[in-house]
Amino acid sequence: MLRQSLLQLKAARSMSTATKTSLKIGLIPADGVGKEVIPAAQQAIAALGSDIPKPEFIPLIAGFETFTRTGVALPEETVQILKEECDCALFGSVSSPSKKVVGYSSPIVALRKELDLYANVRPVLSVAPTPEETPAVDLVVVRENTECLYIKQEQSSNGPNGREARATRLITERASSRIGKMAFELALHRPAKQVTIIHKSNVLSVTDGLFRETVRAVPLGAEGRYDGVKILEQLVDSAVYKLFRDPREFDVMVAPNLYGDILSDAAAALVGSLGLVPSVNAGDNFVMGEPVHGSAPDIAGKNIANPIASIRSAALMLRHMGYAKGADRIDAAVDTVVREGQFATPDVGGKSTTQEVVDAITRLI
Ligand code: NAI
Ligand code: MG
Repeated sequence: MLRQSLLQLKAARSMSTATKTSLKIGLIPADGVGKEVIPAAQQAIAALGSDIPKPEFIPLIAGFETFTRTGVALPEETVQILKEECDCALFGSVSSPSKKVVGYSSPIVALRKELDLYANVRPVLSVAPTPEETPAVDLVVVRENTECLYIKQEQSSNGPNGREARATRLITERASSRIGKMAFELALHRPAKQVTIIHKSNVLSVTDGLFRETVRAVPLGAEGRYDGVKILEQLVDSAVYKLFRDPREFDVMVAPNLYGDILSDAAAALVGSLGLVPSVNAGDNFVMGEPVHGSAPDIAGKNIANPIASIRSAALMLRHMGYAKGADRIDAAVDTVVREGQFATPDVGGKSTTQEVVDAITRLI
C-alpha cells in the first residue's frame, strides 16, 4: 500500500522518464558496510532488465576513508559528476568519528546540502506474514534534511564553569514549509491521510514553534488540496513513547532534522532491524537512495550486513523517478524472501551471508 502510494507525487514531475534510453546512477558506497550493501542494491537494479532504461552505474568516492587517504571527505569531482552526469544516486554510509577531526566534516550532510535534497523520506513498514494481513507498522518519517542542529555551527570557549560548548539551531520558514508540503503530499496518497507534526515547542517555543506553525500553515495556502488530510501534533518525547506503545497511531510523521533522525532509528527497531529500513533524500531535481543505518563497523567486512535496506532504497529511488514497475518488482522479491525466511542475515535471526540474500532476491526479480 505504502509502496504504491509513496512518492507518486514526484512521478508527475519526474525527469521525462518515458523517453530515457539509459539511467545514470551514481554509486557512493563510502565506508564500512556501505561497501557491501551498495553493490547489493546495484545487483538488484541490474536484475530488472527492461522495466527501466538501461542502468549505467558510475562509481564515486566520498567518506572517512576517502578523507584519510586524500584529505577531503567529499571530493568536488564527486559532486560535479552527480550534478552534471547522474540521473540519481545511491549512497551507502559513512564512518564519521565521534571526536572532532580537524578538516573533516560528514560528506552525507554536505551532499544533502549541495544537491538541495531537503527531504529525507523514511518509510518504515513491517512485512506481514501474508499479503492480506495489515502490517503492524506502516508509517513514514519525513525528516527535514538541511537545517536544525545539523548546520553544525558549534563553538567552545572557557567560562566560569570550565569549558562551554554551544550549538546554533536553525529553523527557517522556507525549509519548514517545503518539508511540510512534502509530508502533506505523501499523506494525500496514503490510506490513513494523516500528518503528525513532531516538535518540542513547549520548551523550544521559538525554533520548534516556528516549525510547528509553518507546517500547520501549509494547508492554508493550498486551496483545499489537503482538505482530506488530518493534522495532528505530538511532542517528540511522547511521540517516541507512543511509537513503542502503538505504532499504528502514526501515518506520516514530519519532523525537524535531529528528531527525524532519532525517530526513524527508533521506528526501525519496531520492524526488527536497521538493516531493513530504506530512505530517499529528495529534492526538486534529484533523488538519492540511502539506507537509514550507518556504517556498522561492528559487522563490516564480514559479508553479514543485511542488504535489504539498500535494496529497498534503490526501489524507493526508482519509484520516486516514476519507475513504479521496476520498484514493485524489487519490493515484491524482497517481500517474498523476508516472508519465506529461508535466506536471512543474522540481524534478523538468520544465518545467511549478504550475498546469499542478494542472490535470493535477484533470482526472484
Ligand atoms: P549503525 O547504524 O552503523 O549501527 C547500529 C547497529 O545496527 C549496529 O549494531 C549495526 O551492526 C546494526 N546494523 C546497521 N546496519 C546494519 C545492516 N545493514 N545489517 C545488519 N545490522 C546493521 O550506527 P552506529 O553504530 O551508531 O554508527 C556507526 C557509524 O556509522 C558511525 O561512524 C556513524 O557516524 C555512522 N553513521 C552514518 C550514517 C550515514 O552515513 N548516513 C548514519 C548513521 C550513522
Ligand atoms: Mg541516523
